[in-house]
Amino acid sequence: MSTQAMRTLDPIPSTRSSATVDVLTQLPGADEVGAVAVPVAEGAEPPSELGQDAAALAAAGFTGKRGQTIVLPGGGRALVAVGIGRVDDVDEAAVRDLAATFARAVPQHTRLAVELPDREIGLSPGDFARAVTEGVLLARWRFRISESDDDPVLERLVIVTPADHSEAVVEGVRRGEVRARAAALGRDLANCPAAALTATRIGEVAQELGPDAGLEVDVVGLDELIEMGCGGLLGVNLGSVEEPRMVRLHYAPEGESRGHLAFVGKGIMYDSGGISLKPSDESHAQMKNDMTGAATVLAAMTALRDVGCRTEVTGYLMCTDNMPSGSALKLGDVLRMRNGKTVEVLNTDAEGRLVMADALALAVELDVDAIVDIATLTGACLRALGVDIAGVMGNSDALVEQVRAAGDAVDEPVWPMPLHRRYRSQLDSPIADMTNMGGPNAGQITAALFLEEFVGGKPWAHIDIAGTAQLPEARGWRNKGATGFGSRLLVELACAFERPAEVDA
Ligand code: BES
Ligand code: MN
Ligand code: ZN
Repeated sequence: MSTQAMRTLDPIPSTRSSATVDVLTQLPGADEVGAVAVPVAEGAEPPSELGQDAAALAAAGFTGKRGQTIVLPGGGRALVAVGIGRVDDVDEAAVRDLAATFARAVPQHTRLAVELPDREIGLSPGDFARAVTEGVLLARWRFRISESDDDPVLERLVIVTPADHSEAVVEGVRRGEVRARAAALGRDLANCPAAALTATRIGEVAQELGPDAGLEVDVVGLDELIEMGCGGLLGVNLGSVEEPRMVRLHYAPEGESRGHLAFVGKGIMYDSGGISLKPSDESHAQMKNDMTGAATVLAAMTALRDVGCRTEVTGYLMCTDNMPSGSALKLGDVLRMRNGKTVEVLNTDAEGRLVMADALALAVELDVDAIVDIATLTGACLRALGVDIAGVMGNSDALVEQVRAAGDAVDEPVWPMPLHRRYRSQLDSPIADMTNMGGPNAGQITAALFLEEFVGGKPWAHIDIAGTAQLPEARGWRNKGATGFGSRLLVELACAFERPAEVDA
């Protein structure tokens, strides 16, 4: 495929169509719904509609253990027994993952149904419906760019509920759809090849999607970035034939706001390492996703109005690729960043912190109440926490705790790591205010300490998603490839935001 042909790829295919989610008080007939989930607790007799008892299911290898499935024929359709384990252990995260497991167990079916449990479980009907909606929609999401892609597309999900709960269930479904759509957008963008999703193109995508989501969008190009003195973004962009873009997004809630939050996303459209070229290994092959932070900020912000967020949010997507060339940034070069600080570049592969720095400084100038950045920043964080858990560091324990709690609420776990200030000396430079390169150990901490130089003492938290941005195989609500991790977290964080106290100097 020529580069020109690749540019015609649609980077956001899943925004073009979406399944309908209906709330009904009765299960429709087999002609309308082809597969129905039937939850079965571990060791319990299954519901009679399955037409099998526990012993028969066990003989076929199904015991009701969490995550097991067995597909049985019944009434002209597929009945999917879904093992839920112990009923008492079923929480919202479990429901989301079990719904995803159900949807994956019948990939050929395009019309699915889930019934609200008829006994008390540990979550409300609305939360149950939201989690099911998210789980099913995210499990059946595909990045469809090939004409010959014949994976059946999900058409319809029906949630069956007694009439007295239907109002709460309809609202839960609506919120689930909004949040799943945000995560799907994040996945689309992160999966899109770098030749098709340049910095210019992501600016266009933001302009296409923003206004419909109630966002003000402002795309800042090369000349203006030079005028603004955004030396970090410009420095990283030096080696590229593609222009950089800073995309500014603004969401203003109706009525009084809970505060003003800034989101900053790393938007390295492709990270080759630059002159400090990466080896051609698997992790390099994944570097089209080095703009996941920016994708996540855009994705989350498209959901804010529709979930009724009461916090004002300004987002910055810092977008460029990181390429080696005759004009590229060199080792030893010194950049002057937006806040006037100088940085001696000792490794051009530590580029994320350079592009983020300018946006952090701009957020400080805006005098927001708090700044949260999100970035596929360090291999060190991936090594420390693996692919399930993101790292969070910051100068405000209260804000870090808000990030952790938001992650917990949406099953996007983040774990606090120490912002150990004694390691700051690893960034000392003999000629500039700092270098961009720490020592061989604790790279996630020295990267965060670098970022802290640009937050001007504002409450700030940094989320490192280098590990969680992608998965080698589908697990729970997360798919193989780009996971969309972080989009629902940022939505939740913005909604629940409380102004943190000022940070002590
Ligand atoms: N984008 C990478 C971080 C990364 C690595 C994300 C692996 C996902 C998987 C980042 O720009 C980078 O190259 N970081 C370097 C920093 C080092 C040169 C100080 C790293 O982590 O090795
Ligand atoms: Mn890099
Ligand atoms: Zn990078």
